[in-house]
Amino acid sequence: MKRGLFITLEGGEGAGKSTCLPFLEDRLQQAGHDVVVTREPGGTAVGEKIREILLHAHALHIVPDSELLLVFAARAQHIETVVGPALAGGKTVLCDRFTDASYAYQGGGRGIPAQRIAMLETWAQAELRPDLTLLFDLPVEKGLQRAGARSAPDRFEREGRDFQERIRQHYLLIARREPQRVKVIDASQELVHVEAQLTTILKGLPAGGGG
Ligand code: TMP
Repeated sequence: MKRGLFITLEGGEGAGKSTCLPFLEDRLQQAGHDVVVTREPGGTAVGEKIREILLHAHALHIVPDSELLLVFAARAQHIETVVGPALAGGKTVLCDRFTDASYAYQGGGRGIPAQRIAMLETWAQAELRPDLTLLFDLPVEKGLQRAGARSAPDRFEREGRDFQERIRQHYLLIARREPQRVKVIDASQELVHVEAQLTTILKGLPAGGGG
């Protein structure tokens, strides 16, 4: 069986990617894709526990290397038990964040050298890379406003503007390096306009096997 499509969503805080997930899932299903929606860190029982530490353990001091290894610990579990089997079964996997987030947050944000992240990427993923990445881009200020209106800030949202700006710039750098894979969405627009951008990008995808 042909391997399914692996699509990831990325962006800074409050970019609206999670809001757009049901829309994307719906459109892909209409195009005949058998869709599995998942997220990182998370997507498995182990990954969700790790997510809890990473996002909400405010009292703990987590050093950058530990943070990086935790996201990859969650990722290894996710790939072996969810993402890998789904793709092998011909399903389209729609994943809210993946390894670009490690390059942006732990690399750009925390300052860990990219080579270290690349070592873990090779270890945990072997050849697995997303086929398409939707990068929801918007000014940091606007994103933090949106995220603040939604819920109490998590560990990453509590970091300062500089941290968030480094993350934004790192994501944009990845998009410039890999324009074929990474499509930048102007996420500062109204939801209908964001959805219109997504629709245009989805039109370029191969049809799913089930439709
Ligand atoms: P979110 O699902 O609301 O975007 O929250 C996930 C948080 O985890 C977000 O702040 C980014 C962070 N994160 C990393 O720092 N590194 C990673 O590799 C991943 C997948 C997420």
